[in-house]
Amino acid sequence: MCGIFGYVGKNNNAAQITLEGLKLLEYRGYDSWGVAVKSGKKLDVEKHVGKIGSAALKSSIINHKSSIAIGHTRWATHGGVTVQNAHPHLDCTKTIAVVHNGIVENFEELKKDLIKKGHKFISQTDTEVIVHLIEDFLKKEGFASSVRDAFNLLKGLNAIVVVNAVSSEIIAAKNGSPLVIGIGKDEFYIASDLIGISDYTDKIVFLKDNEMIILGKNIKLLSLPKGNRLKEKIEKINFKFEKSSKGNFEHFMIKEIYDQPRIIRNIARNYSDQFKKMSHLIESAKGIFFIGAGTAYHAGLAGTYLFSKMAHMHVNTSVASEFNYLEDFLTKESLIIPLSQSGETIDVIEPLNIAKKKRSKIIAVTNSIGSTIYRMADFNILLNAGPEKAVASTKTYTAKLCVILMLVFALIKKEKEAELLLNNAAKEAERILEDNNIKKIKEIAKTLKDSKNIYVIGRGLSYPSALEASLKIKEVSYIPTEGLAGGELKHGTIALIEKGTPCIVFAPKDETFESIISNATEIKSRGGVIIGVSSKKSDVFDYFIEVKDIAQAAFITQIIPLQLLAYFLAVYKGLDPDKPRNLAKSVTVK
Ligand code: F6R
Repeated sequence: MCGIFGYVGKNNNAAQITLEGLKLLEYRGYDSWGVAVKSGKKLDVEKHVGKIGSAALKSSIINHKSSIAIGHTRWATHGGVTVQNAHPHLDCTKTIAVVHNGIVENFEELKKDLIKKGHKFISQTDTEVIVHLIEDFLKKEGFASSVRDAFNLLKGLNAIVVVNAVSSEIIAAKNGSPLVIGIGKDEFYIASDLIGISDYTDKIVFLKDNEMIILGKNIKLLSLPKGNRLKEKIEKINFKFEKSSKGNFEHFMIKEIYDQPRIIRNIARNYSDQFKKMSHLIESAKGIFFIGAGTAYHAGLAGTYLFSKMAHMHVNTSVASEFNYLEDFLTKESLIIPLSQSGETIDVIEPLNIAKKKRSKIIAVTNSIGSTIYRMADFNILLNAGPEKAVASTKTYTAKLCVILMLVFALIKKEKEAELLLNNAAKEAERILEDNNIKKIKEIAKTLKDSKNIYVIGRGLSYPSALEASLKIKEVSYIPTEGLAGGELKHGTIALIEKGTPCIVFAPKDETFESIISNATEIKSRGGVIIGVSSKKSDVFDYFIEVKDIAQAAFITQIIPLQLLAYFLAVYKGLDPDKPRNLAKSVTVK
């Protein structure tokens, strides 16, 4: 959450470079954005509410020909979405600017002290205390030690980047949120992640927690809290981030839904060898845990069912943010499998830090090479799904399911069967995406778009599908939804069913079919409208979304019509499915 970008070096269009960097980081937050440039012994700041999109900077900022700039794209934590609360934030003298990612947990007490000392606050953010603290320290010490001393007073997980009108350096510090430094020729870049930098240079320093860095003519790395000099580790990255465009599609979300057959085929073709190597690790582990947030959690949950069904193995799945309270029993023989598209989700990183301390093994499943989770892992499985730009995960959900299927089948030495299943899944995904099916889903979306609420049920491997379908619909269409296990209905939620309440029912042709149809009938008896997702028509269905029976791979493709339904619900409601309100693609604060 929140994207940070900064530049210092030989180039005198730092403001423009920073603006372009921010555009690549927009997925981290799109409530507001801003840039601060150093011009002579002054700082100039431009800030706006809303998405950065294809914005240009005011000519007054561009004309400064500055070689130092920092910028920020915000996902609001403290303080509403206003220009005042947009970063960068300035001190009272307007000569120091700070951009920040994280939460200063003790900002209220720090703010009270600073107000007593006469500092004037113009925003409601926690961030503003940082810049006033630096201002205070600067009265008696140098720039670098002021940043260090101010940062040491902050509680919580934070990353900051600071410029000062009278210095030619950018200073950054972190103990939580990611910061990456790119080293060019006589120039440095700093950003929240590699995607902002990899176009400029392949020489990278990943700032670690409790480190601070000074970028100017040279690079100087210091430890926190004391400020001892450290030797920076320069890593060479050998990949470029794939650029993604919408092509002929109206939104990234729909484009990414259509990417799925290709991605599924790629996993079928290329993954079995690497999984053979991992089988041993899985077999010898004492306690295996999938962890993930949101959609990634749903993929892990599907894994629990598949491991049980196919490999007769018990694998736990936990919501990552809850795993902190569940991991007292981890040992060096435990195996954690974090699932994370971005590889930067703080809720996943936190428990991994504890797991690492206990020397548990980590196999990370991510879509982001070089990300924090990727670097923390002992082994990596890359989804290779290409950049996922829409905030709502679609293609990386099905990619994770494919990887889990391949992994389970590698364990039971049926790699060839897995390949076949996934090739069938790719074909079925193509069929679902044919025009006549899209037309049907559009019609259902039109009838559901004004619904007060929607329920989704499934059993067994379709229970995670129900959770995922519900999440997809609510996050892009803002229709309140609830996904639940079919058997749970009668334990409470059925009280909410009334005449006309839509209920989506996953009814694959497996052991769950009869029971889930009974649940659908119970809903229908109370006036509910049933949208059946199945390979088999049933009299109980008011609407029928056909998905073919592709045996153990059916749980992968049955979500695709629901991704489409969520997308068209958003479109028919006049919403932007790519950037739903209040969300960000990468969640880096707790
Ligand atoms: C929902 C969605 C989120 C993410 C979650 C985890 O469509 O995209 O629920 O799945 O924020 O993100 P990653 O996978 O990046 O850890």
